[in-house]
Amino acid sequence: LKRVFGLARSNGGNPVKIDQISGWVKNVRPLKTITFVEIQDGTTLQDLNVVLKQGPPSFRPALGQSVTVLDPEIVQRKNQQFETICLPHNLRLVGATTEYPIQNKQTALPTLRKLPEFKHRTTYLSNLMRFRHKIESRLSKTLDELDFTLVKPPILTSIDCEGAGEMFKLKQDHWDKAVNLTVSSQLQLEVLMMGLGRVYCLQPCFRAEKSDTNRHLCEFWMMEVEASFIGKNETLMDLVELMIKNVVSSLCETEDLPKYFPVGCNNGVTERWAKLLQDWNRITYTKAVDLLLSSGVNFEHELTWGKDLNSEHERWLCDHFGGPVFVTNYPRDCKAFYMKLRQDNATVECFDLLFPDIGEIVGGSIREDNYDTLKAEIQRRNMDPNELEWYLNLRKEGTVPHGGFGIGIERLVSYLYGNPNIRDSIPFHRTTGQIDL
Ligand code: 4AD
Ligand code: MG
Repeated sequence: LKRVFGLARSNGGNPVKIDQISGWVKNVRPLKTITFVEIQDGTTLQDLNVVLKQGPPSFRPALGQSVTVLDPEIVQRKNQQFETICLPHNLRLVGATTEYPIQNKQTALPTLRKLPEFKHRTTYLSNLMRFRHKIESRLSKTLDELDFTLVKPPILTSIDCEGAGEMFKLKQDHWDKAVNLTVSSQLQLEVLMMGLGRVYCLQPCFRAEKSDTNRHLCEFWMMEVEASFIGKNETLMDLVELMIKNVVSSLCETEDLPKYFPVGCNNGVTERWAKLLQDWNRITYTKAVDLLLSSGVNFEHELTWGKDLNSEHERWLCDHFGGPVFVTNYPRDCKAFYMKLRQDNATVECFDLLFPDIGEIVGGSIREDNYDTLKAEIQRRNMDPNELEWYLNLRKEGTVPHGGFGIGIERLVSYLYGNPNIRDSIPFHRTTGQIDL
């Protein structure tokens, strides 16, 4: 369809003749003397409007069927719609339906989530997957332009990178070490960074999350970045901001955009993108706590210096600043063992990027590069230094200041698409205790 639409577009209102065109029926509107049958084949966001003339029907067009139109003459109408007029014997059924469960364009998302094998046939969710693809490619493009190498760390690992005890553990009797699904590839990226200088990966992470919210998944995708010879948070935050702003700029320039978001149902996305192109705020954790405590708001979760921020605090901060906020230098005990201790001995050189509505989108830090300090921190947390001997070795042999971050892909996609539940931003979501296909 995409190719034929292109030909019809450049043919100045004259029809383009081809042998046949196939697709799935997305909509059927019977009128008195004709029936409108809208079909799509996945190559374009737009439907082909098949104007079916009356005559002896060989089958009744219905949603979900796959069909072929023989000898179509496709034309672009003044209203930009693509159309072909079709006689009944030229419309052939390829695959019939029996109880096709998606009855109209407005099927609600909670219903679609229970139809994993069918839900991507809706325009909304298939567009969301195309949208995700666009975002991932644009994020990669920025890193490629900056000479980062895309690497492939393992999914099976023996370590809990974040130390949060949220690992999926596999039972393997004949292995002498624990086998877990990775929660983050950061530590392996640090190994690779020591040879390649600048690396990134895009792959799934697994967390046995107990939080059953619209921003938590048990299997989600992270783009993780690690760079050598970087000693300041600011450099990392500049890179995050550049990567995401490049995504937003490219979305704003997308020709297809009106088709992703038909008029009236764009969820206010264009406004939120425009806001993202403005300056982002950066404040320290300590300043954030001061602001929250003096806000006069009665938060459900009590906050004192030293406690991690909750999603209600994150939301308040974004509202307060009217856009994204980087919160830096959290207390060491709020964060993972590998973060660089600051001179105050109380906070670490790290940041979280908070987005309105959804909260934390990116987490990153400068890593502790001093062998003794890192070892002492591992021991202070009652972690086993033997398990992390290889990681400590990196600090013994040619250690360098370095840092990186992880971007939660589904959260970013959700926010940019204006669809608040991240379960829709991944084809097959896995949440607490739930797995379908
Ligand atoms: O803040 P996190 O846990 O950071 C790390 O794992 C670091 N090791 C990354 C690094 O520096 N290389 O996770 C990073 C991001 C979060 O900001 C969030 O966007 C996303 O990953 N994330 C989740 N997304 C969906 N469901 C979950 N359960 C998530 N947990 C984290
Ligand atoms: Mg985090």
